Amino acid sequence: MGSNLARNFARHGYTVAVHNRTPTRTRSLIEEFGNEGSFVPAEKPADFVASLERPRRLVVMVKAGEPTDAVIDEFVPLLDPGDIVIDGGNAHFQDTRRREAALRERGIHFVGTGISGGEEGALHGPSIMPGGSAEAYAALGPMLEKISAHVDGEPCCTHIGADGAGHFVKMVHNGIEYADMQLIAEAYDLLRRAAGQTPAQLAEIFRRWNTGMLNSYLIEITAEVLAHTDQNTGKPFVDIVADAAEQKGTGRWTVQIALDVGAPVPGIAEAVFARSLSGHTELRAAARQLSGPQGPALTGADADRLVDRVEQALYASKIVSYAQGWNMIQAAADQFGWDIDLGSVAKIWRGGCIIRAGFLDEIRSAYAANPALPTLLADERFARQLGEAQDAWRAVVTTAAQQGIPTPGFSSALAYYDALRADRLPAALIQGLRDFFGAHTYLRTDREGVFHTEWSGDRSETRK
Ligand code: 6PG
Repeated sequence: MGSNLARNFARHGYTVAVHNRTPTRTRSLIEEFGNEGSFVPAEKPADFVASLERPRRLVVMVKAGEPTDAVIDEFVPLLDPGDIVIDGGNAHFQDTRRREAALRERGIHFVGTGISGGEEGALHGPSIMPGGSAEAYAALGPMLEKISAHVDGEPCCTHIGADGAGHFVKMVHNGIEYADMQLIAEAYDLLRRAAGQTPAQLAEIFRRWNTGMLNSYLIEITAEVLAHTDQNTGKPFVDIVADAAEQKGTGRWTVQIALDVGAPVPGIAEAVFARSLSGHTELRAAARQLSGPQGPALTGADADRLVDRVEQALYASKIVSYAQGWNMIQAAADQFGWDIDLGSVAKIWRGGCIIRAGFLDEIRSAYAANPALPTLLADERFARQLGEAQDAWRAVVTTAAQQGIPTPGFSSALAYYDALRADRLPAALIQGLRDFFGAHTYLRTDREGVFHTEWSGDRSETRK
């Protein structure tokens, strides 16, 4: 990814100094792609630093965690106040906050930058989410904007906010990416098992969906993967891949940190847990003999109807998981003092990144119409779309339960929708139970104050 990013800068007319711990890597980059632009290879860190224009702008592309600290420790003593260190890895935003504060003391800018789009994106235009100071962005932003993806002539790069804001937003991007993929996987599973569709037929269905409201990169590549045939066996590729989904950690971080900042993101959590469950082969083997429903799969018009309903359920559930992600960004912005423009997050995710999708334009419009929107679900257009989809959505969750096919993403999204729109939640009963066994007290709907009932006595109520 680092070399593709270097090539992207070079292709845009920048002279790029390149350094790698393993000098042969630098040499082979220059040998293979040196004709694409102007590269300056540097074997020694001191030569690398000396070759940079001031303020120096160093992009660090190493594995997140200790390797990043090692590079910082090696290079920072060679830098001067005003220089800018950019970390383009998937760093934990708290590490970024720590590094930014440490370098700020030395007068050096540290810009934790989310970069999405994989290797291809790095070369042809990623979505870029830089954090750090406004001063650093002023010196850096124009370059990043130039090499980023563009949609309707606008760069998919903007200054997200101070210190760790960029890496935080990238982490939530990945959490949403997990939720998107989980929903897609559930749609596939349901239509294959409950509606008898083959992978090839499903590839066609996803291809068609990609021309409608679900238009997105992940739907597009789902069609590609489902259409692919294994060259060794002639079987559908999806049937020869082990069904245990891996994860590098950003989805898990999203859920852990959502708990810390008090943002409910059940859709992302279900996606992370579904991956985790898929990898528990011993649990799955032990439970394989459990009984399930006997009903036959749907056929004919019923199967066709399910296809249309799943499209609606997928779209509605997608709106819900994006709403959760945006709420989490807002919660963190409030907690960490970041001034994040929620609409511009949607704007820079319209291109370059893994979750790029047509409907991000609608999220952008929703925040343009009301920057203080408490939830995307309350936006007029999304509320209408959810209302239109809800019958199909409920039918899909019902069919899944009847057929014994797990749809934690669809089900949890629907539960979130129903919970937010409920007049009363059963949390009142939970408060009563807490007060009963632990005198944890409760608030009343009709009076100010904190109350406790003497459950083991005469059940009178006292104000605390
Ligand atoms: C991106 C991706 C990228 C990476 C994920 C994969 O935006 O370019 O999100 O960051 O592919 O980290 O994560 P998992 O291995 O956890 O699925």
